[in-house]
Amino acid sequence: MKRLVSILLCVMMVCVFANAFAEGKVGVSMPTKDLQRWNQDGENMQKMLEEAGYTVDLQYASNDVQQQLNQVTNMINGGCDVVVIAAIEGSSLGSALDLAKEKGIPVIAYDRLLMESDAVSYYATFDNYKVGTVQGEYIKQALDLDNQAGPFALEVTAGDPGDNNANFFYSGAMDVLQPYIDAGKLVVKSGQIAFNDVATPTWKTEVAQNRASSILSSFYADGSNIDVWLCSNDSTALGVINALEDNYDGEWPIITGQDCDKPNVKKMIEGKQAMSVFKDTRTLAAQVVKMVGQILAGETVDVNDTTTYNNNKIVVPSFLCEPVFGSADNYVELLLDSGYYTEEDLK
Ligand code: BGC
Repeated sequence: MKRLVSILLCVMMVCVFANAFAEGKVGVSMPTKDLQRWNQDGENMQKMLEEAGYTVDLQYASNDVQQQLNQVTNMINGGCDVVVIAAIEGSSLGSALDLAKEKGIPVIAYDRLLMESDAVSYYATFDNYKVGTVQGEYIKQALDLDNQAGPFALEVTAGDPGDNNANFFYSGAMDVLQPYIDAGKLVVKSGQIAFNDVATPTWKTEVAQNRASSILSSFYADGSNIDVWLCSNDSTALGVINALEDNYDGEWPIITGQDCDKPNVKKMIEGKQAMSVFKDTRTLAAQVVKMVGQILAGETVDVNDTTTYNNNKIVVPSFLCEPVFGSADNYVELLLDSGYYTEEDLK
């Protein structure tokens, strides 16, 4: 009898254990280890997925499109039940996505939309248009554009044309600023304002720095001030800051960013970058882990946007997380008190 009870207890424990821990293998494909945010995204997701009981195949693709294509193909052929992808170039994974569809494997686009494919099941990201709006509104208020005549000198640095997000960031900010450009309150001396003229292929700091240096030597070498430099994210803001440090003696401009990367938080504390937009990668990772669980359990998947993200084939059901304004004034609460960074990280 005693023996029977202990067998029953064991069986019950196994059942409880199996219930608490989900089963399945999840492929996570990240673009690169070069930028801080993707390391954080990858690590957060792996940790949370493993804690939930999944096996994780996490790969970084060194910003090499072919490498990412191979890695995703291997995930699909290697038995992953769901694949989560932050694409290097949104339109380049077609053959892997076709394979996923053929095998019935759901695909979640992570942060960046996967384009030109009907094999994308869901998209989880931050509200990308709002990121741009937050930057534009900050500039509007900092220069008091409704009340000041200006003219203020503005230059613009946007993101990678292969990343669907880059256009949203740019449009969100420009929709706020364009009326002031039209009214002559903001003047772009370089004349470079169209997205393709201000884009930064691969989002690289050096690429943004080279363009900024050439703008400074061509249009501001006469000693005229530049009042504001709209930068879509932190890696490009860093390039602009480097260029200004090397080639500019005027009054330091307002510089925007996004991500609250460590070097940029230091620049905010130093007073060289005015603001950034904080996108807590823990929030996004948690949302995706929830999506994976809902997909694998056959439950309804939580989405909050079913109209915005058209990838030229389908409108992908999306969950948009909230981006938050960050600056030297609130970084302690936002980044330190929340445990995102330690004081040591920002030294
Ligand atoms: C992300 C940004 C990031 C940029 C460069 C975008 O897709 O949304 O957070 O700064 O890529 O990595």
